[in-house]
Amino acid sequence: MAQRVHLIAAARPNFMKVAPLWHALAAAADFDPVLVHSGQHYDANMSDAFFADLGLPAPDQHLGIGSGSHAEQTGGVMIAYEKVALSDRPDSIIVVGDVNSTAACAMVGGKLGVPVVHLEAGLRSRDRTMPEELNRLVTDVLADVLWTPSADADANLRAEGIPDSRISRVGNIMIDSFELVRPAIEAAGAPEALGLARGGYGVVTLHRPSNVDDPAQLARLVDALIEVQRRLPLVFPVHPRTAKRLGAAFLDSRLKRAGLRLVEPLPYVRFMSLVTGAAAAITDSGGIQEETTYLGIPCLTLRENTERPVTISEGTNRLVRPETLLLELDRALTGPRPVRCPELWDGKTAQRCLEDLRRRAGPARLPVARPDSGALVRRYSGGERRAGDARYRRGG
Ligand code: UD1
Repeated sequence: MAQRVHLIAAARPNFMKVAPLWHALAAAADFDPVLVHSGQHYDANMSDAFFADLGLPAPDQHLGIGSGSHAEQTGGVMIAYEKVALSDRPDSIIVVGDVNSTAACAMVGGKLGVPVVHLEAGLRSRDRTMPEELNRLVTDVLADVLWTPSADADANLRAEGIPDSRISRVGNIMIDSFELVRPAIEAAGAPEALGLARGGYGVVTLHRPSNVDDPAQLARLVDALIEVQRRLPLVFPVHPRTAKRLGAAFLDSRLKRAGLRLVEPLPYVRFMSLVTGAAAAITDSGGIQEETTYLGIPCLTLRENTERPVTISEGTNRLVRPETLLLELDRALTGPRPVRCPELWDGKTAQRCLEDLRRRAGPARLPVARPDSGALVRRYSGGERRAGDARYRRGG
């Protein structure tokens, strides 16, 4: 019987991580993927457009959670997803990235005794003021299987006492998404549509609470971007969180007066078309640090730390502050560019994920058990479940 796999998608960066896996699972006879959307992101240009660009079908289940405080979002997803998991009885749950819905669904799976797999496991910024860092820690401690993108992630997990048997390095799934729609990206012509000359502009994205929620920090960033605009024309697709904060402080009009192109958030294909034509990216996003490393485009990351250090050691990324942005941009544009790309960032991650699921599910294969739970032996083949949870019974 085909393994029923729940794939959890929630917010914009998740859709690129889920899509290659959904396509690979849907094409394999031994898997039955079920797409679950928590509804954390709900605007057409933050969600629907990504489904269309990445060839994803409408979600099988939509939890409709929407915005709220972190506790409201996390709790809301747990309550709604528990019902879905109980009625649909997945053999495993795949959560991706580090958003609130990722941790929430890992918790539900853990409590119901359904094996949880975390794609993009092991990343650590070691900055617990970042909500995503807490989500990563919770998710990785609960997940039965940890799919990592790079060697540093394996090392982080081992240092936290996670046994090797739970870790599989599969590579970076974001590169699969890029390769999946590369022809559409190459044909999209986003720079031309905005009147920009290829190689003659920079792309800006900002949305981290630490950058945009503090008015003083946001004002410093706006000043730095205006300085850069004099050196390199900038186009800035503005995230809803950032749009609210800029508008409240009348900083959006300052940016426009200085000549920055402020546009709505873009769908995946048009956004990547813009990035591939850019001289540099200025961002606080995790995904863009990775995509620019793959593409060999300089990336200036406006953060104190990164959970993706491999984009610095083996890629084009550098951490900057508002006051060092212009200087670092000059260095990046005039200095030598690394030609390396991290190992297994090759567009074949989804296939490695499938192979790992099969390897772990086979009859004589590894039971996926936690060292601290002697009573519980889990197998993807589905027979055994958490003792005592009568509600969760296969075939019901
Ligand atoms: C979330 C993730 C973050 C990810 C980011 C990408 C967490 C903790 N954070 O942050 O890791 O990098 O998504 O965007 O899970 N809003 C809309 N329309 C939408 C979605 C949001 O208007 O479709 C508004 C909300 O009203 C809210 C704000 O944008 O005020 C922020 O949205 P939220 O989902 O809370 O967090 P993000 O900052 O997007």
